[in-house]
Amino acid sequence: MIPTNQSWGGRFSQPTDEFVKIFGASVFFDKILAPYDIAGSIAHATMLYEVGILTDEEKSQIIKGLNTILAEIKADKFNWSIDLEDVHMNIEARLVEMIGNAGKKLHTGRSRNDQVATDIRLYLREQIDAISSEIKRLQIALLDLAETETNTILPGFTHLQAAQPVSFAHHMMAYFEMLSRDAERLVDCRKRMNSMPLGSAALAGTTYPINRSRTATLLGFENSCNNSLDGVSDRDFAIEFLSVASIIMMHLSRFSEELILWSSAQFDFIELPDSFCTGSSIMPQKKNPDVPELVRGKTGRVYGNLTSMLTIMKSQPLAYNKDNQEDKEPLFDTVDTLKACLRVFGDMVPTIRTKRDNMYNAAKKGYTTATDLADYLVKKGLAFRDAHEVVGKSVAYGIQEKKDLSELSLEELQKFNADIESDVFDILSLEGSLCARDHLGGTAPKQVIQAIKTARKALK
Ligand code: ARG
Repeated sequence: MIPTNQSWGGRFSQPTDEFVKIFGASVFFDKILAPYDIAGSIAHATMLYEVGILTDEEKSQIIKGLNTILAEIKADKFNWSIDLEDVHMNIEARLVEMIGNAGKKLHTGRSRNDQVATDIRLYLREQIDAISSEIKRLQIALLDLAETETNTILPGFTHLQAAQPVSFAHHMMAYFEMLSRDAERLVDCRKRMNSMPLGSAALAGTTYPINRSRTATLLGFENSCNNSLDGVSDRDFAIEFLSVASIIMMHLSRFSEELILWSSAQFDFIELPDSFCTGSSIMPQKKNPDVPELVRGKTGRVYGNLTSMLTIMKSQPLAYNKDNQEDKEPLFDTVDTLKACLRVFGDMVPTIRTKRDNMYNAAKKGYTTATDLADYLVKKGLAFRDAHEVVGKSVAYGIQEKKDLSELSLEELQKFNADIESDVFDILSLEGSLCARDHLGGTAPKQVIQAIKTARKALK
């Protein structure tokens, strides 16, 4: 037997090929799991002591050793070795080096398979909490902005053509709603994730009289995975998280797209501060909305990570396969990307300066109160289809005369329908149009103010 320093070297007669060592190692990226790995090991050792597998002395040595290792890692004094492949074996080897025999007993009743599955759940659970806080921060920023803009009118669009006037606050609140659903999805995903794989061991469970519910309680898991094969091989929770992350990024990309459009000279609805934009090295006049553009671009990266994970899991036979080691980088990258995008949006939203006059004029130009005129005629007794026809003709006339509907005289309007009276001008104004949509979910300032209030309460 050729001696190897690997913990599984007993049945091997050849050392690992040098490049295969590098190829197979995950320590470069999985070392960020160290705090969760150590927390899992401390809980495992505590349980092993309680069921009589470790002595009090052994348990204390292990816990003390693990805490020292955690301090070494935090102080960047830990010597990571690729010979030891991954975070789990690096920590265990250091423990044995420090405390000797007791360290070798830590892995009793456990495998790296249930260990790593536990570590990533602990990691992701904590990250979900951080992401949820970032979402809430962005939601508060949206509420604050909306509150100052309940009377700011811009054209609402369908097909990117001016459709009907809405308030800027109403528009911001649409994003608030999307983020509320995202936050709920995260809560739901966290709940399903919060189940402990430890005890599944390699795949079939363990012969030791372990107490899984005790370990689960120590680690804050709601329960333990019901099936050991599933416990070690399930990555649904990661796929679910990546799906939620993709939906959040999709929402941020829509918001980004609007900010990019709105800050262009063609729309000129908002201004982003210099501190969130960059210039061009060749065109001195340029001020580019890099932040929303980058967020829009990073959406592709997160979708890619979801696709990676789905494909890594596709067709994998039960239970653990080395393929699963590939789950980490897409997951870590998504967490980092998502946190950064939410954070930068939370910073940027309060800095958005609205150009109220420009938005107002754009809403006026687009015949956005045409539906209001049709509704007015229906209330006078016309069938909606006939009213539609009358208004269509009025709009065509307005375009020809280069006048908004509200700028036509009563006589001009009456040419299209004799029942039109002077009260028509109340509803042809942008303000009138907004105020008329006075029901739950409508854009009337009164309703939007109420929506903001309700949303603020719900956030607390
Ligand atoms: N580094 C491995 C991973 O991330 C840990 C589990 C290794 N298990 C095994 N049977 N080789 O998946």
